[in-house]
Amino acid sequence: MTRDLTEGWEYGVLGLKDPDDAGGLAPYFDFIRDHLDLPGDVCEVGVFRGRSLIATGLHLRRLGSDKRVVGFDSFAGFPTYAPEDEPATFEALHEAGAISDAHLARVRLNREHLAAVGRDPSPSAASSSGDFGGTSVDAVLAKAAYLGLENVDVVEGPFAETMTADRDPDRRFMAALVDCDLYESYRVSLPYVWERLVPGGFVFLDEYYSLKFPGARVATDRFFAGLDAAPELLRVDPNGFERWGVWKPT
Ligand SMILES: C[S@@+](CC[C@H](N)C(=O)[O-])C[C@H]1O[C@@H](n2cnc3c(N)ncnc32)[C@H](O)[C@@H]1O
Repeated sequence: MTRDLTEGWEYGVLGLKDPDDAGGLAPYFDFIRDHLDLPGDVCEVGVFRGRSLIATGLHLRRLGSDKRVVGFDSFAGFPTYAPEDEPATFEALHEAGAISDAHLARVRLNREHLAAVGRDPSPSAASSSGDFGGTSVDAVLAKAAYLGLENVDVVEGPFAETMTADRDPDRRFMAALVDCDLYESYRVSLPYVWERLVPGGFVFLDEYYSLKFPGARVATDRFFAGLDAAPELLRVDPNGFERWGVWKPT
């Protein structure tokens, strides 16, 4: 049975983003809506409980598109941490002029708030979802089934195994949401996505501006340093948070 959602609260109950009222993620959903003429499917790197993955499936169906969305995740939480994920990397980024004074001030304020509620700012604890272990493939696919979505695929496992250069070399993406928080996760997934992104395609970089995960920005800057594309500021949310993405040249 096909089921759609019409009222804002329904998204909250099901733990989904509303693709038509997506706040900071609006540039991603809007890009998909406005570029359905591009070939390729949609890719999500970092699914957790399917908040944005299932919303993307819903979005594509409403738009009458036959594109699919494929989500990659371990569905068992973060597999590994790198030195670049340590909180002190924010200070190094600031010293190198890579993040603004305002960004570092928010990072430090966030640390103070975390400390006040007894949480530490390390990458495994900085998020309210911990290490994101509390999910499963079945739980995500059950949400898709509940809505009657037939355009959602998942690939389970650490990216180091599921996003290697030789995996699905013929896959093509027109858009991607990279939302995987950590240095190694960005380092491994960006080449996989970029190689398969069609000219004119777009990647939303969820942690390029983050108060918790500095390694994502380090890995992204290292990846694009040798390429003919670079992250661009898409919008600044009302709370001052920056949203970044990158287009593949045509
Ligand atoms: C911030 S959550 C994704 C949130 C999701 N997009 C949403 O809409 O709620 C990050 C996810 O990335 C996954 N992840 C991070 N690094 C990974 C890796 N190297 N391999 C597999 N999964 C990874 C985690 O398991 C976690 O579920």
